[in-house]
Amino acid sequence: MSPNPPHIPVLLNEVLAALFPLENKIIVDGTFGAGGYSRAMLENGASVIAIDRDPNVEQYANKLKDEFGDRFTFLSGNFSDIDSLVDENVDAIVLDIGVSSMQLDEASRGFSFMRDGPLDMRMSASGRSAADLINSLNERELSDILFAFGEEKRARRIAKAVIDARKTQSITTTLELANIIEETIGKNPKGNHPATKSFQALRIAVNEEFNELVKALFFAEKKLRLGGVLAIVSFHSLEDRIVKRFFASSKAGSQGSRHMPVAVEQIASWSNIAKPKKALIEEVEKNPRSRSATLRFATRTDAPARELNFQNLGVPLSKRGAL
Ligand SMILES: C[S@@+](CC[C@H](N)C(=O)[O-])C[C@H]1O[C@@H](n2cnc3c(N)ncnc32)[C@H](O)[C@@H]1O
Repeated sequence: MSPNPPHIPVLLNEVLAALFPLENKIIVDGTFGAGGYSRAMLENGASVIAIDRDPNVEQYANKLKDEFGDRFTFLSGNFSDIDSLVDENVDAIVLDIGVSSMQLDEASRGFSFMRDGPLDMRMSASGRSAADLINSLNERELSDILFAFGEEKRARRIAKAVIDARKTQSITTTLELANIIEETIGKNPKGNHPATKSFQALRIAVNEEFNELVKALFFAEKKLRLGGVLAIVSFHSLEDRIVKRFFASSKAGSQGSRHMPVAVEQIASWSNIAKPKKALIEEVEKNPRSRSATLRFATRTDAPARELNFQNLGVPLSKRGAL
């Protein structure tokens, strides 16, 4: 690895251990980023098909292509399209969901309330930006997103302040929004910035992150061969809950409900569901981003793949379809 990687991979040893042995395996790295995971897998003898929706990561992919030739393929796109992007059945699929350091640190991407930039937050640099949402959603819609995706208890007050502010002028920069939030709810006694939760919520909404995750989980179930491993690193409790329930919901008989008991006992799609893994203190000291990361992984059985289903996974706002 280069001395100053643009993004330090999180829980890398734990992810590699989940996939061990790697030699001659075909692995999908669905969140390529700066290629930290891909590189380690390639160095351990695997072939890697990498996916990322951020056009800026292609420079890192080209470097791996030069070094590892045919063992490395990069596909630009969303990991929720894994079914159509990847033709073959594979041995493992890994997702390290969240924002890369390159995205956070580059002011022009608009992810950070610490740096002034356009209120953008689009990982793929296309589609609706955070400014589009902030200036077009009504008060209720905005409040719902801040509450459901950011667990922001003061969502209503923030939404009202945003609607009032934009009557005079559109809100177009990260610092404008961060200042409106700080003026409305004040500084946080715990020290983190008062806009933290609202920015998380907007980022999730702009990039439809829950929608992407749920689709990827079900399509991974389809794409993995018998004995293949699905490993997911998530960065907040809402995502982790979805992954946990997804694996658990495939257990025999667990898809029924009080209203519709299971008629036929089902075979679970996943076995060896590992206990969640967190970063060791040594890693957290070197890379504070790893503090909130959780790794979950499981092994694919030969049960038929389930159909895409958003129910019972705890996806916020999914009942109203606003993902
Ligand atoms: C935390 S970084 C991954 C870092 C990587 N593991 C490494 O070691 O460098 C997450 C990456 O996933 C990408 N990403 C997030 N959601 C995605 C999606 N739905 N489809 C494709 N790429 C996505 C982001 O653009 C970002 O580059």
